[in-house]
Amino acid sequence: MNEQNQANFEAKIEADIQIEPKDWMPDAYRQNLIRQVSQHAHSEVIGMLPEANWLTRAPTLKRKAILLAKIQDEAGHGLYLYSAAETLGCSRQDVYQKLLDGKMKYSSIFNYPSLSWADIGVIGWLVDGAAIVNQVALCRASYGPYARAMVKICKEESFHQRQGYEAVTVLAKGTPEQKAMLQDAINRFWWPVLMMFGPNDSDSPHSAQSMAWKIKRFSNDELRQKFVDNTVPQVEALGMTIPDVDLQWDQSLGHYRFGEIDWKEFYQVLKGEGICNYERLNAKRKAWEDGEWVRTGAMAHSQKQKTVKSA
Ligand code: ACO
Repeated sequence: MNEQNQANFEAKIEADIQIEPKDWMPDAYRQNLIRQVSQHAHSEVIGMLPEANWLTRAPTLKRKAILLAKIQDEAGHGLYLYSAAETLGCSRQDVYQKLLDGKMKYSSIFNYPSLSWADIGVIGWLVDGAAIVNQVALCRASYGPYARAMVKICKEESFHQRQGYEAVTVLAKGTPEQKAMLQDAINRFWWPVLMMFGPNDSDSPHSAQSMAWKIKRFSNDELRQKFVDNTVPQVEALGMTIPDVDLQWDQSLGHYRFGEIDWKEFYQVLKGEGICNYERLNAKRKAWEDGEWVRTGAMAHSQKQKTVKSA
């Protein structure tokens, strides 16, 4: 029976038929998805924090309204993704507790501080831009609920990226101080954004299996290259520079070549030793504790409703 199930599963993957929650799937496929989808959900909710830092200091009412909408979108993305993870049989509370206990990861990029208003434009443009490159590919992931969640998420990320680019365009055409602020933000975010795509393929323990299962459609290095190729002309159009002396167009490859990423820094951030790791997790732990009365109240209300119905 198990062999037949395995054969059916493999045939579906081969034929690009999506796997649905009630379908049989190998346990390793299920666990790998719970890991990736939950980490992805955690990234969305932790990703609200660096932007929330600027909500009360946005330069105009229009910018504040846009930023607020974007942060709310990220909360929504987290909720879709936790729901998608739950269809795999995990409990939302369990994976969230693992985040709070530092036992599950979230994207390294959110452990960097947002120091200036230009950082908010750069987060929308480069961070969400990198997220889209990765997530468009995930719209064709082999697990149905994950792939479908990604379709709506990508539409919203696309708005985030465009508003970020529009915001940095204003700074790029602004005063010398605004231009310098933008260049400083690009200088600080460029390398951490490249790290968002994960380790090089040769050092990525999950990639080969995730690609064979068609959860990932492109490798970490392929997506990183695509992002660099898309983004360098945008930086040039703004009249800004990229902090990489090795960056150059390779005519024969049809791609930009770029310098070596500081992987030591990447692994330090993953270990919890980035600039903001402590602050980010503490903010989420505090929010969880502060929300205790809401959860208790909601549970008591739900219990009361059940009692009323059964009476
Ligand atoms: N930040 C934190 N952890 C990372 C990162 C990163 N940038 N890149 C890789 N890792 C972790 C992996 O999660 C994995 O950890 P684990 O074994 O403890 O689970 C380990 O490093 C090894 O990496 P890979 O083998 O390459 O892992 P994987 O195949 O899962 O690829 C990737 C990593 C590309 C991030 C993949 O999980 C993915 O596409 N996830 C969905 C997209 C996503 O989560 N985006 C988050 C940012 S977007 C946003 O929130 C706006």
